[in-house]
Amino acid sequence: MSSTNVYIFDTTLRDGEQVPGCKLNTRQKLVIAEKLDDLGVDIIEAGFPVSSPGDFKSVEEISKIVKNATVCGLTRAVKNDIKVAAEALSNAKRPRIHTGIGTSDSHIKYKFKLTRDEIITRAYKAVSFAKSFVEDVEFYAEDAGRTENPYLAKVCEAAIKAGATVLNIPDTTGYCLPAEYGEKIKYLKENVKGIEKAVLSCHCHNDLGLATANSIEGVINGARQIECTINGIGERAGNTALEEVVMILKQHPYLNLDTNIKTQKLFGISQLVSEHMGIYTQPNKAIVGANAFAHSSGIHQDGVIKKRETYEIIDPKEVGVTQSAIVLTARSGRAALAYRAKKVGYELTKLQLDEVYTNFLRFADRKKEVKDRDIHEIIETSKVYQQIISA
Ligand code: KIV
Ligand code: ZN
Repeated sequence: MSSTNVYIFDTTLRDGEQVPGCKLNTRQKLVIAEKLDDLGVDIIEAGFPVSSPGDFKSVEEISKIVKNATVCGLTRAVKNDIKVAAEALSNAKRPRIHTGIGTSDSHIKYKFKLTRDEIITRAYKAVSFAKSFVEDVEFYAEDAGRTENPYLAKVCEAAIKAGATVLNIPDTTGYCLPAEYGEKIKYLKENVKGIEKAVLSCHCHNDLGLATANSIEGVINGARQIECTINGIGERAGNTALEEVVMILKQHPYLNLDTNIKTQKLFGISQLVSEHMGIYTQPNKAIVGANAFAHSSGIHQDGVIKKRETYEIIDPKEVGVTQSAIVLTARSGRAALAYRAKKVGYELTKLQLDEVYTNFLRFADRKKEVKDRDIHEIIETSKVYQQIISA
């Protein structure tokens, strides 16, 4: 991998699947895993094998079918979790165990009732044990977002000493501001002994709507892996959205960071995940929402019809959307009406358009959106209809 490459670690099937009521069965997980592999993600987190027999089976079956990506299984810093994960991953071409422990004071004090030093020992032992099964071991410092940087650096150092290949720095509660998260990554790059032996990874939650911004700030400051989910799904406000970080890196080449994602497949996989999980994607969702390439105000429509780039920074085809949509509403202008009328078969002169547009506005004021079939009705009931069809 080049130093400009950012690994995309997809956790749709693990963190993403933690959305209440959206559990997937093994067959559905296999369909999604195959598409993630086709999409070009570098790592697929397939599940948490010790959590249930179903999850174990999913990780086991996904390990058999994935051709290119690394397949990863989550564990706590618990021997049995790690043993079970290694077993579930035994058929993977490239297996990775993802183990870790909470490092913020509240996790240490209330969840584990341990001391800071005891947490470091547990982290070291978990990574060492995982290394006895697989070469590729990722360590997560849960709630790293609220962990003091000097202590976090010590935990990371212990994980590297034990052989961790990746250090995951989760903002588990979605608390950090972008500058703060970026600073954390920079601090670890500059202060952890042996950091050159491991890849730093961003794992950001979206509780304040900052997951994407934080992940981007993380890679600007030296992280080289982003953990994310399709459509940003995940418990509470979700995880970093894969399609967003990938397109940000693509649209801003001066950052000199890229990914292996085949972006033309983004819209398709977004729809697939949404259907299987039964989660409707908000229409204004960046990149993959139904309105992401739809224009409804007259000023914007006029601009896009003249030159797409006036109001679009991404060519929709680049993300697998066939074309931009010109949506007709009462806010649309003559240019949009002429454009859509032409698409359904009517070439209007300027005078005809004036007459049809008056009719259109009356109609549009009563409707949320004017569809193709409505355009026929609007034109057929206009005074100039005979003129239009005999032209
Ligand atoms: O958000 C988080 O801290 C996690 C870890 C288990 C990696 O999902
Ligand atoms: Zn998470």
